[in-house]
Amino acid sequence: MATNESGSVGKPMNRVDGRLKVTGAARYAADWPIDGLTYGVIVQSTIGSGRVASIDVSRASKARGVIGVLTHKNAQKLPDKGRAAVNPPAGRVLTLLQDGEVHYNGQPIAVVVADTFEHATDAATMVAVTYEKGTLAADFDAAFPSAYPLPEKPAEPGRNTRGHYVRGDVDAGLASADVRIDQTYTTPKENHNPMEPHAAIASWEGGQLTVYDTTQYVYGARDTVAKTFGMKPEDVHIISPFVGGGFGCKGSTWSHVLLAAMASQSFKRPVKIVLTRRQMFGPVGGRPQTHQRITLGAKSDGTLTAIRHVTTSHTSFIEDFLEPSGIVTRMLYAVPNLESTHRLLKLNVGTPTYQRAPGEATGTFSVEVAMDELAEKLHMDPLALRLKNYAETDPDTGRPFSSKALKECYRVGAELFGWSKRKAQAGTMRDGKAMVGYGLATATYPTYRSPATVRARMEMNGSDVRAVVQTASQDLGTGTYTIMTQIAADALGLKPSQVRFELGDSHFPKSPVSGGSMSAASTGSAVHVACTALRQQVLALAANDPSSPMHGIVATDIGVSEGRLITRSDSPATETYAEVLARQPGKAVEATESSAPGEETKQFAMHAFGAVFAEARIDSDTRTIRIPRLVGAYGVGRVLNAKLAHSQMISGMVWGVSQALREETEVDPRNGRYVNADLAEYRVPVNADIHDLDVIFVDEDDPHINPIGAKGIGEIGITGVAGAIANAIYNATGVRVRHLPIRLDDLL
Ligand code: MOS
Repeated sequence: MATNESGSVGKPMNRVDGRLKVTGAARYAADWPIDGLTYGVIVQSTIGSGRVASIDVSRASKARGVIGVLTHKNAQKLPDKGRAAVNPPAGRVLTLLQDGEVHYNGQPIAVVVADTFEHATDAATMVAVTYEKGTLAADFDAAFPSAYPLPEKPAEPGRNTRGHYVRGDVDAGLASADVRIDQTYTTPKENHNPMEPHAAIASWEGGQLTVYDTTQYVYGARDTVAKTFGMKPEDVHIISPFVGGGFGCKGSTWSHVLLAAMASQSFKRPVKIVLTRRQMFGPVGGRPQTHQRITLGAKSDGTLTAIRHVTTSHTSFIEDFLEPSGIVTRMLYAVPNLESTHRLLKLNVGTPTYQRAPGEATGTFSVEVAMDELAEKLHMDPLALRLKNYAETDPDTGRPFSSKALKECYRVGAELFGWSKRKAQAGTMRDGKAMVGYGLATATYPTYRSPATVRARMEMNGSDVRAVVQTASQDLGTGTYTIMTQIAADALGLKPSQVRFELGDSHFPKSPVSGGSMSAASTGSAVHVACTALRQQVLALAANDPSSPMHGIVATDIGVSEGRLITRSDSPATETYAEVLARQPGKAVEATESSAPGEETKQFAMHAFGAVFAEARIDSDTRTIRIPRLVGAYGVGRVLNAKLAHSQMISGMVWGVSQALREETEVDPRNGRYVNADLAEYRVPVNADIHDLDVIFVDEDDPHINPIGAKGIGEIGITGVAGAIANAIYNATGVRVRHLPIRLDDLL
């Protein structure tokens, strides 16, 4: 990254939108005050499979305050039965009242619109439905024999989704092994629960539609809505300045957004739909259940000879969605013979979706526990086994890594954690009544990047200047506003307080989905190039202006600090941006620039890595599991904001504890109902579950990865944690648990 006189990037700066949030002034999707707003409530199916035989809305329609009820009988017919926009991640197969088919329990089958939320909620209970039940498949194990190979389809842009992959000869590799592990690992269904549920307000004016949405992908929402209705994208305006958590569920535009727009069009009023917490389970995705069989072979010195990883995960009856648990295996260790394949099976549940580190979160559990089992069989230290098979180049593509600080992560993590004090013999470390165990796992996430465009303008702000920097990115609560402000400030030579960064509006230039941990790398790079271009434009104005003290100096010889231009030589000439701009007739200068990945993506493999160390303490009487310490050491390229990066990592680690010990969505196999669909019964960690979390960022200077040198950190924090905890629990107790979540009854 270029000149950095004001030096804001990297600092632990507070969130620029923090004050708006803590004072309640930040406007989330459901908060917009719209004239004549009405309230939509979704009626959901109460069977898991079949069709609506009759739907009687007469009572509901006459209920107090009701404006209209939309069902498959009266809903507008959409192009291609509502599927014209299917193009993941944004465009998914939705259920938009185009027919009476029911594919899962909880599917939207009607929308009641009323003058208040309470009236709509009340009337929704009066919609009378009868069904013809179909055959139900809601049990993963029962459906297991029906699993089919992932259909080969074009890979999603920026996402490695090849279902089937082989290198070398796995059978020969296993035959040549001295030691083999062949085990099955399972992970449960999970559901994202951001604090802010999905919500949308749709409002038509003539042929123009405005949607206030909570989305991880402003342009994806715009294009999905437009294509679904057969409109021009310019006729759809998406507004989403604040998002109260996403984690992947808001990367796709789900049915409720289109249903709000359909109801709004039908009843000619703005319509707001906010999903209830229960409605977050089913209609908006979740992490699918996985079954992963892993076969490892190794020589007696620990050298891996082969890995086979067969993943089976569930999808719905309307769309194939894969949890690609086996992709991480392809690059994690230097093994010549490897097979990683994926299969799907269909259940009558809502289509699953991306959930924080989709694939890596589940794959680093299974592979890292299998490696722990292998280490034990070899009588090797688990860390030594990983170092023995350390991949110096990417075993998947054969390319060098743009940077890889994993060895350093292992070293500093082990040192801080005190790994050398681990006793290899399981069940031999005690502290009073506690059985104590240490476990480790490798963490990793790919560094993705997509093209982004940013518009940057410098203008007068009273007697000073300010930069207004705009792009249709998103801030999920992670700090996009803040890091983009820092990047812009440094590129322009301004203080962060002189920069106003704006996002979340489809009238701004395009940024990619805030998914795949790519916003910092993608949008950050574009902010850097656009602001660098703007700075050069303003400097050129000074250099070319005879009335400027900088006149005649080559623009590239001018530096800027806190808005003051200075020469790099000894010349005393100086003036401020404000003085330059004040002489301009229009008093504003603007630059729009794009940044996209280039040749480097073909030359290098790009991934972030880390090492996670966990201590488990299990009460020898009650088997209560406690995780008093987690240490994570990460190499993520340049850290853009020390405070926000630390928050990202500990939040990922907390979710890893949750994945290891708490979370599971329970579906009743008799009817496909989501049983624990609220935050009382869907278990997540509480304060008592989380103790010391230590995060270390090792220095990693990556000159190849992108203009700002940063790898994404949104998802790597969850990876490896469940594996490290499972391994620590084994080391404490000698009980090998191969499923998640791990509960005390597993240890009795
Ligand atoms: Mo992330 S699951 O790619 O939003």
